[in-house]
Amino acid sequence: MAISEVVLDELKRRAREAAGHAYAPYSGFAVGAAVLTDGGEIHSSANVENASFGLSNCAERNAIFQAVAHGARKLEALAIYTPTAAATMPCGACRQVLAEFGADAVIICCTNDDSRERRFALAELLPAAFGPASL
Ligand code: THU
Repeated sequence: MAISEVVLDELKRRAREAAGHAYAPYSGFAVGAAVLTDGGEIHSSANVENASFGLSNCAERNAIFQAVAHGARKLEALAIYTPTAAATMPCGACRQVLAEFGADAVIICCTNDDSRERRFALAELLPAAFGPASL
């Protein structure tokens, strides 16, 4: 069943709120993400960088891991917010992690300008994915 726009608005709001907690002193690129579980819960997070650059974590993976660590196993939607002109696409690593828990998830990439919002099915962004069924 389609997710209501009211719920998706709240998901986007939570992603935007989370971006306020980004720790991004090296890139200066703040990202917020929020995921919707099949139980209707929302978990949000931001990107967290490190002086050892390669240890930085994306907002999307932080939000997904947080949801899973709280017991979720199925994700219905992921919102990604950046305060940029164009919507930000999730990186390849985050697409793969989402495939583990949200193969059918909708991904909403949003900014402060609703007309710039972009929506995708994960299958569009990660076709022919390697996943749990591959093993
Ligand atoms: N980043 C995310 O958190 N999500 C994305 O979708 C793209 C990139 C973060 C990683 C790093 O902290 C900063 O943005 C610049 O790449």
